[in-house]
Amino acid sequence: MTSLYEKLSRAGGPARRATAMTLIDGMRGRTDYGTNVAYMTLCEDVIAERGIANSAYENGLPRWEFTAFSSAMLLRSVPRVSGFLNAIGRAPESSGTIIDAGCGSTAILSVGAAIMHPKSQVVAYEINGPSAACARGVVELLGLDDRIDIRVADALTADLPQADIGVTETFCSGLTTELGHKLTAALAGVSRDVIPATVMISATDEPPMSGARWQHAAAVDLTRENHMLTGHLLSTGNGSRDVSVYASYYDGYGDEVIAQLRANNLTNSVTIGSVPVAHAGVTIGFSYEMGAELHETPASLWTE
Ligand SMILES: C[S@@+](CC[C@H](N)C(=O)[O-])C[C@H]1O[C@@H](n2cnc3c(N)ncnc32)[C@H](O)[C@@H]1O
Repeated sequence: MTSLYEKLSRAGGPARRATAMTLIDGMRGRTDYGTNVAYMTLCEDVIAERGIANSAYENGLPRWEFTAFSSAMLLRSVPRVSGFLNAIGRAPESSGTIIDAGCGSTAILSVGAAIMHPKSQVVAYEINGPSAACARGVVELLGLDDRIDIRVADALTADLPQADIGVTETFCSGLTTELGHKLTAALAGVSRDVIPATVMISATDEPPMSGARWQHAAAVDLTRENHMLTGHLLSTGNGSRDVSVYASYYDGYGDEVIAQLRANNLTNSVTIGSVPVAHAGVTIGFSYEMGAELHETPASLWTE
């Protein structure tokens, strides 16, 4: 069977852009996991066919940097992708610049922004060189290379242009691990709208991997200078409790995240303390509030 990579390689600009529209439509719809897989496979083929350096693991990389392969894998999270794409689609139309800080190897949010805001120009930053190379290949195959400028740079230190929309998905490994709280603040300095504006911290009575429904514990307004917690821990059914923080997997990052939160003065409204996961599981960084739509990534998607 002819792969999407092969089809696009032979296609002209209009057919490439039509495919990009179909892919973005499918991923916004939230139900069509097949579209996410198709886009992910396209990225994997670009990695393989163009000989882009790749590794499944971030060995030796700073924790906020993703390899091309790991970044492609993130497309498996259907609610994460649709949540961000829909938030970009809801933003007032841009005929200026859109910034994607941390576009990964897929440039998924840049592609979504270019499709949903057809008069805009997207400036995408990616700190990982091989990921950026893959993103360039994908954007070219989708006929959007004249609309999306991918720069290999640290968005925290880059001279960011003034923009209508600034988007960053740098929270999937925890609230502060990928420095998303700093990237959103940097974007707020130059952008009319920042996505996401707030991140919800969610709590559950059971370990998140059990598939238990998370409840909101607190919200962090990422565009505020001090990034203070603005909400209060809600009852989880058995009364309020201290927040036990763990970021992403049961990987021992939890205590470090708590330390980072304390260092960033994030603990003003909510007591943050370490509680064994067996007693209360809380995760940070998987839930984003983007306008009307709350995005929650089912824990099961992250256990493979
Ligand atoms: C969680 S991934 C998200 C990728 C893609 N935007 C998506 O939604 O699937 C975050 C990406 O941001 C990159 N990154 C992290 N910190 C960065 C920074 N300060 N400047 C530029 N890129 C950064 C990582 O290397 C990674 O590829």
